[in-house]
Amino acid sequence: MEPWEYSYIQRKLLELTGIDLSCYKSAQMERRLTAYLARSGQSSWLRFFRTIERNSAEIARLEEFLTINVSSFFRDFERYEHLRMAILPALLHDRPSLRAWSAGCSRGPEPYSLAILLADMTGPYRRHQILGTDIDRAVLDAAAAGGPYPPNEVAAVPEELRSQYLRVEHDRYWVTRQIQQKVIFRRHNLLTDPFESAFDLIVCRNVVIYFTAEVKNQLYRRFRDALRPGGVLFVGGTEVVSSVADLGLQLVSPSFYRRVDILSTARPQPSPAGA
Ligand SMILES: C[S@@+](CC[C@H](N)C(=O)[O-])C[C@H]1O[C@@H](n2cnc3c(N)ncnc32)[C@H](O)[C@@H]1O
Repeated sequence: MEPWEYSYIQRKLLELTGIDLSCYKSAQMERRLTAYLARSGQSSWLRFFRTIERNSAEIARLEEFLTINVSSFFRDFERYEHLRMAILPALLHDRPSLRAWSAGCSRGPEPYSLAILLADMTGPYRRHQILGTDIDRAVLDAAAAGGPYPPNEVAAVPEELRSQYLRVEHDRYWVTRQIQQKVIFRRHNLLTDPFESAFDLIVCRNVVIYFTAEVKNQLYRRFRDALRPGGVLFVGGTEVVSSVADLGLQLVSPSFYRRVDILSTARPQPSPAGA
C-alpha cells in the first residue's frame, strides 16, 4: 500500500470511527485493510469510503473488524488459576471489596470471568466494583446483555462454576442475572480517554498487542498510575511488559505485575554545626 493511501485511510477512519491508526502496528493493519477492501467488492478506498460514509451499520461493521474482538471465558486457563489461587486471595486479604477494570473487554467474557471468580470466592452478596470498557459499541451491547456465547467461548469454565453461573439455551450460553449485574460496561477509548484510578486489579489482555511499542509503553505507565499501591496488572498470555522497574511495576508471576511505590527514605542531611 502506498504511504499516501495509508494516510488517507487513517484520516477517514479517524473521522468516521474515532480510531487512530497511527497508534497501531502498520504492517499488520495494512494486511487487514487490504483484505477488507477486497471483500467489500470496491475497487478503491475512495469508492469504499464514499459508499459507507452515510451508512452507520457499515461503519460499525468496519469498526468491529478493525478492533478484533476475539475473546473467551477464562482465556489462558492456567493464568486464571493463578489469579484464583494466589492473586485474588492476596488482594482480598488487603481489602474485602475489590475494584477491578477489564480494559478492552470485548463482548464480556473477561469481566464476567472475574465476576464469577469473585462471587465464588467471596459469596454472591459481597459487592465488588467491576468495570468493563471497550472502544467498540457493538461488543458492549452484547456484553451488557450477558450473552449469548457459543460453546467454544465458555469451554474453559470449570464445570462447577459453569453449572452455577451460566445458563444454556439452544446451545448458546448466558451468564446468570446475578453475574450480569456485577459488571458495569462503558465505552472507553484507551488511547484518548482519561483513566479512572485506585483499582485493585486491571486486566488488559490481548489489546495492546496491536499497538506500537511507544503507545504500549505509555499505556502501561497509565495503567500503573490507575492502580492503587500494591494493585495488580494482569496482561495477556504472550505479553511481556518491558522496563518494569522504570514503570514502577514488579513482575509477580507470568502475566501479573504489581504496582510498587518506592518511598524515598533519604532525608535532608543536617548541615555540620556552625556551618
Ligand atoms: C482481542 S480483544 C481482547 C478481549 C479480551 N481482553 C480478551 O483477552 O479475551 C481486543 C479488544 O480490544 C478492544 N480495543 C481495541 N482498541 C481499543 C482502544 N483503543 N480502546 C479500547 N478498547 C480497544 C477491541 O474492540 C477488542 O474488543
